[in-house]
Amino acid sequence: MSQTEIKNAEEERKTSLGKVYLVGAGPGDPGLLTLKGKGLLECADVVVYDALVSPQILAMINPQAEKIDAGKRMGRHSLLQEKTTQLLIDKAQTHAIVVRLKGGDPFVFGRGGEEMQDLVQAGVSVEVVPGVTSGIAAPAYAGIPLTHRDYSSSVTFVTGHEAAGKYRPKVNWDAIAHGSETIVIYMGVHNLPHIVAELYQAGLKDETPVALIRWGTRPDQEELVGTLATIVEQVEVAQFGSPAIVVIGNVVQLHGVLH
Ligand SMILES: C[S@@+](CC[C@H](N)C(=O)[O-])C[C@H]1O[C@@H](n2cnc3c(N)ncnc32)[C@H](O)[C@@H]1O
Repeated sequence: MSQTEIKNAEEERKTSLGKVYLVGAGPGDPGLLTLKGKGLLECADVVVYDALVSPQILAMINPQAEKIDAGKRMGRHSLLQEKTTQLLIDKAQTHAIVVRLKGGDPFVFGRGGEEMQDLVQAGVSVEVVPGVTSGIAAPAYAGIPLTHRDYSSSVTFVTGHEAAGKYRPKVNWDAIAHGSETIVIYMGVHNLPHIVAELYQAGLKDETPVALIRWGTRPDQEELVGTLATIVEQVEVAQFGSPAIVVIGNVVQLHGVLH
């Protein structure tokens, strides 16, 4: 056998029997799960799911399926990332349909890209099923259109949790403040004082409207609306915690009108 044939045979052997579907569960409201995602949950053999996935969506899972909670929250990792990926690789050797269920969209600050890379490298077939991301859905349910011809013609989605891993480059807040009329921040509550300071430095004004939407699209959705000058204190006073989306820009003014 030539070196190429040996390599091909090895590749073939590595190829798993099953397939992993990286499915976006949406932000909370079970009605926002896609039909494709629902269909996969109903026929899955194994489902590995994250903490932010709603109980109503978990209830859609095939009753015969093995359900594994891989949820992780800030400071508490119930299953480490490498372990989760290895688990998916292992399950794909013995099961036909393995669903990796993630909150929102798997490729938007959900580490779906990293997981898919590892699975592809391990020879596992994998497909992504996009979900409705919280950065779009939570503002929508709060009556905040991210673009509106009278208020904003650009939007940036950005992480507020810069220190989470080496792979995340430092956010260029100055460029974002100058280049985007609406800023949507994921994982930004904890770092809000730092973010606000950076945006001031970039030239944003005291009166720039800011909204926080917590548990967006769920029945217990909460909102906090203020300005760059007031929001940090408001968050402290209200003890407003995660998970929340922060929206900054003039579109926030529509909250009072459309909500
Ligand atoms: C690790 S990121 C995952 C984002 C997810 N992949 C998505 O597309 O929505 C977690 C962050 O998403 C935001 N988030 C997720 N679900 C949310 C919800 N229902 N309401 C508000 N923010 C949410 C919060 O900023 C939270 O800290």
